[in-house]
Amino acid sequence: MIRILDIHIDYEQLSAGFGAQNSHEIVHALKGVTLDINTNDYVAIIGPSGSGKSTLITAVAGLIGVVKGDVFIDKYKITRARRGRQAKIRGKYFGIIFQFSEMLSRFTVEENLRFAYVAAHGKIDDHYQERLKYLAEKLDMFQLLASYPTKLSGGQLQKTAIARALIKDSAYILADEPSGDLDPESVARVKKLLREEHDRGKGILLVTHDHKLASDAKSVFEMRDGQISSLIK
Ligand SMILES: Nc1ncnc2c1ncn2[C@@H]1O[C@H](COP(=O)(O)OP(=O)(O)OP(=O)(O)O)[C@@H](O)[C@H]1O
Ligand SMILES: [Mg+2]
Repeated sequence: MIRILDIHIDYEQLSAGFGAQNSHEIVHALKGVTLDINTNDYVAIIGPSGSGKSTLITAVAGLIGVVKGDVFIDKYKITRARRGRQAKIRGKYFGIIFQFSEMLSRFTVEENLRFAYVAAHGKIDDHYQERLKYLAEKLDMFQLLASYPTKLSGGQLQKTAIARALIKDSAYILADEPSGDLDPESVARVKKLLREEHDRGKGILLVTHDHKLASDAKSVFEMRDGQISSLIK
């Protein structure tokens, strides 16, 4: 289970002014978010731009310091662990689809997927081949596997990022706006893929502003101004 307990996150923003008038401003990006995601849950959070969705994903993944509160993954408190430990917990439990992801540009799409798999499982095996085939088919991306990331369109890169997050078959999927750059047919594919992964027992936390994409989730919350404001479904 992922337990998000009263998380508060601040950012310090530097704004350039005229002359010496640069100013520091504290942005309270998350102001007390509490949420449980069970192993077999599919939870979506919908919210406008700037409401704190990506910040929440970053916090659950243990990639940002918190002012207050904690995130537990099973018995592990990822928010207070050392960096190396955070990376281990992250690698063990999560497939993360980042809103803006970067691929290793010197390697092909398939090599990028291989690296992600080996990082989690230590070696390439039959399960990798099965997952590769399954994801390439579901995302209609067989023709991309031999390409280099720098040659891909935004939508093709997003598919690659989704495949990279899912290939290792981890217990939870954290998905941050996974369909932002995609055409309607591809959005439908991603929606179906997430539903199937959930049917296979994955816990999913999806953040998006796309109501349609979120409609398969078992529970849908609304996020506003750094807080979960209501339960929509
Ligand atoms: N690295 C950062 N430094 C400073 N402020 C940040 C940083 N990242 C986000 N913020 C601020 O924190 C708030 C929440 O941002 P966040 O990226 O979590 O929103 P979001 O809901 O994911 O938006 P979007 O839908 O546009 O992706 C915003 O006010 C944003 O300006
Ligand atoms: Mg975001």
